[in-house]
Amino acid sequence: MDKRKIIIDTDCGSDDAMAMAMALNDPDYEILMFTTVAGNVSRKQATANTLTTIKVAGSCCPPVYEGCSEMLLRNWVGAAETHGNDGMGDIGLVDYALQPAKGHAVLKMLEAIEQNEPKTIDIIALGPLTNLALAIRLAPETMKNVRRLVVMGTAGLGVGNVSPVAEFNIWQDAEAAKIVTDFGFDELVYVGWDACLDEAMLNEQEIEEIRSSGELGRYCIDSNRVLMEMNRDRFGVPCLDMADPAAMAAALYPECIEACDKYYCQVDVSGGPSYGGVLVDYYHFSGQKENAWICSKLNPQKYKEYIFRTLHVR
Ligand code: BDR
Ligand code: CA
Repeated sequence: MDKRKIIIDTDCGSDDAMAMAMALNDPDYEILMFTTVAGNVSRKQATANTLTTIKVAGSCCPPVYEGCSEMLLRNWVGAAETHGNDGMGDIGLVDYALQPAKGHAVLKMLEAIEQNEPKTIDIIALGPLTNLALAIRLAPETMKNVRRLVVMGTAGLGVGNVSPVAEFNIWQDAEAAKIVTDFGFDELVYVGWDACLDEAMLNEQEIEEIRSSGELGRYCIDSNRVLMEMNRDRFGVPCLDMADPAAMAAALYPECIEACDKYYCQVDVSGGPSYGGVLVDYYHFSGQKENAWICSKLNPQKYKEYIFRTLHVR
């Protein structure tokens, strides 16, 4: 069977790294390229973290292209308190000598879509949607040929993680998220923040099992050191809520999806307290046509099995 072609857009913080390592080790997929964007960390840092992750994962070597370093209208803010200043736990994991490929991420992404048969490429976005929005504005007809866009973003059907209603990736560049949501992709899937919570969180035993499985497992866990400390304060026990791995699993192993429905969604760009929130029209009040799938729950066993299998833990 032919491998399915994917492009991964990332603001590589520590949970992106685990998600990318999973994709790099799934033999059913060919990663055409990684594109980077400012989000969890600066674009430069996201690029260094992406290149380091590819090196550690060791399975193949797709090119990495740098994308946007600022948001469409707003300034980049970042998430050092969640992922560390370097996005990888500040413990010296990052290899800064590695270099990205030449060319702008947005142009390279468009080139790849144009050079392949229509509807043969899936994009998985793990950070703010700045690169994707720019690609839509530059070449909408080309972007219509994307088969499916899966995004780690929105609070799903739950609550936000940077404000009562907003999730980080959408909130960091809500204008970009609005362009993406309103565009009319054939299949736009938001994997909400709620999909990585509760039973989907990695518990202490699972964390230890991944960590002790070898170099890749150690890298995936140690890079999440700052997040783990934050969670220890928040939940009282060490645990990892892995947002980007949840989105990656939903994209590459849809068998693990337990709840995913299509709704009319609107991104709030009004600038008030709900900026970056995504209104999910659950009861169809608006009468508008559904424009996005919201994946709000994964089967925890299947999801974790996929993590363990692709990270070579069991
Ligand atoms: C998202 O924001 C980042 O902290 C994570 O990498 C993930 O993409 C979760 O809200
Ligand atoms: Ca991310």
